[in-house]
Amino acid sequence: MKALIVEEFGDSSKLKYSEVPKPEPVEGEVLVKNEICGLNYLEVMIRDGYLPLEALGSGFPLTMGVEAAGVVEKVGANVSGVTKGERVAYAVVGSGAHAEYAKVSASRLVKVPDEVSFEQAATSMIQGLTAHYLVHTTGRVKAGDKVLIHAISGGTGSLVCQVAKNAGAFVIGTTSTEAKAAKAREAGADEVILYSQRDFAEEVNRITDGKGVNVIYDGIGKKTFEKDFECLAIQGIVVSFGLVSGPPPPIDVEKLAKGSFSICRPMLFHYIANKEDLEWRSSEVFNWIKTNKVKFGDFTVLPLSEGKKAYELLGSGKSTGKILMKP
Ligand SMILES: NC(=O)c1ccc[n+]([C@@H]2O[C@H](COP(=O)([O-])OP(=O)(O)OC[C@H]3O[C@@H](n4cnc5c(N)ncnc54)[C@H](OP(=O)(O)O)[C@@H]3O)[C@@H](O)[C@H]2O)c1
Repeated sequence: MKALIVEEFGDSSKLKYSEVPKPEPVEGEVLVKNEICGLNYLEVMIRDGYLPLEALGSGFPLTMGVEAAGVVEKVGANVSGVTKGERVAYAVVGSGAHAEYAKVSASRLVKVPDEVSFEQAATSMIQGLTAHYLVHTTGRVKAGDKVLIHAISGGTGSLVCQVAKNAGAFVIGTTSTEAKAAKAREAGADEVILYSQRDFAEEVNRITDGKGVNVIYDGIGKKTFEKDFECLAIQGIVVSFGLVSGPPPPIDVEKLAKGSFSICRPMLFHYIANKEDLEWRSSEVFNWIKTNKVKFGDFTVLPLSEGKKAYELLGSGKSTGKILMKP
């Protein structure tokens, strides 16, 4: 089968579209024929070598990819409740999802309702589930809260924006260009700050009459983290969930006393660690799609054979919405 592999970590030049052996599911596993593969910043970090090889369940050559949606092709021994031909999706580190086929533990698969497309299902698995836990569990966003979302027109940011709006929040976003800001407004953002033209903390304080925001969703890290505390409301929380610009600097905990601030550094996989949470969160995300409460439609789809281009696009910071690859 064809897959996107790396033989060493590094930039996108290390990615190769190659022939590799088709995986064979063992006990408890299912072979999925991937219809569409999702691309996330997580895979860019994996490609760069941010995660140790042992955490990826394979040596080199490493088949890239964490997330995909497709159809069950073959069921291993001692698997119940999953049958050949069913539509499924998954997000599993080490699954080698950027390939024609991947084998996945049956306990990590979710069934995809007929009303949900493969594109929407793949997008749900990392970015959709992340928007769910960030808004409803980590940030506990409620009506009237003021929320700041960095990279608001990115894949995760545009979903967090919609989910926070549905929870009744006033949403402020940051982004780099007017074209991206227009997309964020379409997704419901109340205010969008072009951080290339204005100091985002000063702008947030102006918009909130100096009170600041209750929750900040920061997937940017180094470039934004310290400034977040300049526009955080009393008892506010900085949710530092990514490090696109590099890791955030260390912080003196005493500085949090300025406003009884909190910081959380969450990871999706801890919020879907057990099957019940995975099914609960994914069924809610699929319901948002079915009832049109959250639009999962801003897709850029490239052939898997052009995976290098897809990784470069995400890494360049120029993309909006979700990048998908078709095997
Ligand atoms: N912890 C978790 O559970 C979890 C789960 C999912 C995603 N994440 C994190 O969420 C963040 C967003 O991921 P995503 O996949 O949705 O990506 P994305 O937001 O679609 O793309 C990244 C965006 O970051 C902005 N950016 C700012 N500085 C940048 C820089 N130096 N280089 C590149 N981009 C830069 C760009 O938007 P602007 O032009 O608007 O600045 C870019 O489009 C990542 O940090 C990812 O690791 C974390």
